[in-house]
Amino acid sequence: MTGSVRIRRQAKKTPPFAFFDEVYKSFDSKEVLRGLTLLIRKGEVLVILGGSGNGKTVILKHMVGLVAPDRGRVFIDGRDISRLDDNRLLPVRRKVGFLFQNGALFDSMSVFDNIAFPLKEHTAMNGEEIRVKVHEKLKLVGLEGVEWMMPAALSGGMRKRVALARAIILEPEALLYDEPTTGLDPITTKWVTKLMRNVHESLKITSVIVTHNIQSAMAVADRIAFLYRGRIKFVGTPSEIGACDDPIVQEFLRS
Ligand SMILES: Nc1ncnc2c1ncn2[C@@H]1O[C@H](COP(=O)(O)OP(=O)(O)O)[C@@H](O)[C@H]1O
Ligand SMILES: [Mg+2]
Repeated sequence: MTGSVRIRRQAKKTPPFAFFDEVYKSFDSKEVLRGLTLLIRKGEVLVILGGSGNGKTVILKHMVGLVAPDRGRVFIDGRDISRLDDNRLLPVRRKVGFLFQNGALFDSMSVFDNIAFPLKEHTAMNGEEIRVKVHEKLKLVGLEGVEWMMPAALSGGMRKRVALARAIILEPEALLYDEPTTGLDPITTKWVTKLMRNVHESLKITSVIVTHNIQSAMAVADRIAFLYRGRIKFVGTPSEIGACDDPIVQEFLRS
């Protein structure tokens, strides 16, 4: 039995959170994903490691239908989402929170309004219910008393936490993080790494974290998937990847 047949059988037994079934994706003439197969279990923290420009962000975008595969399929919760239109993608996008690389807060809105925004768009909650929810999520990310500050007045680490509070405000089943520690100093990086694990445990969600920070990956992951030339070259626990004797994986870990 080949590796991908085995993974496909496994995917049928208990629907995983996500399953990439031999996904190919090119932009112009550049082949980015070349038959990528990856299974993400429900409730795990999976870290995707790989060099810059390898297609890590493209993988995350496939999981919320921001990018569609040229060939192959992407399943979320057992459902093939690879050819759905925007309307049909709405429930998927509600279920899967996405923390974009630069946080992307609305600069003209206060912290409170930034975090409350998805609730106003997607729910019929009243002002008091919204206030309670926003406060609850701010507390979860370790920020209180900053509701009326503007994003420009916050440090990089605080902005990251506000973006995280906004990404979990609709209580998603999964959270995708794109380079959550890039541009942060070492102390803030440690803090954000711990916070991702705390949020994961508190909300009992599936977390997928894209990074090239190896230390952060080792600290937060249940499993690490190493992306190389459009395919997953290795997937396993942090200690398994540490013990993996593939020279390309080892070179990356040492870099
Ligand atoms: N929308 C797009 N249009 C054209 N090229 C793209 C697009 N998205 C990604 N790419 C290309 O795909 C490659 C992988 O991108 P990306 O997933 O952002 O890499 P990573 O996140 O691993 O740094 C890059 O060469 C990038 O230029
Ligand atoms: Mg990227």
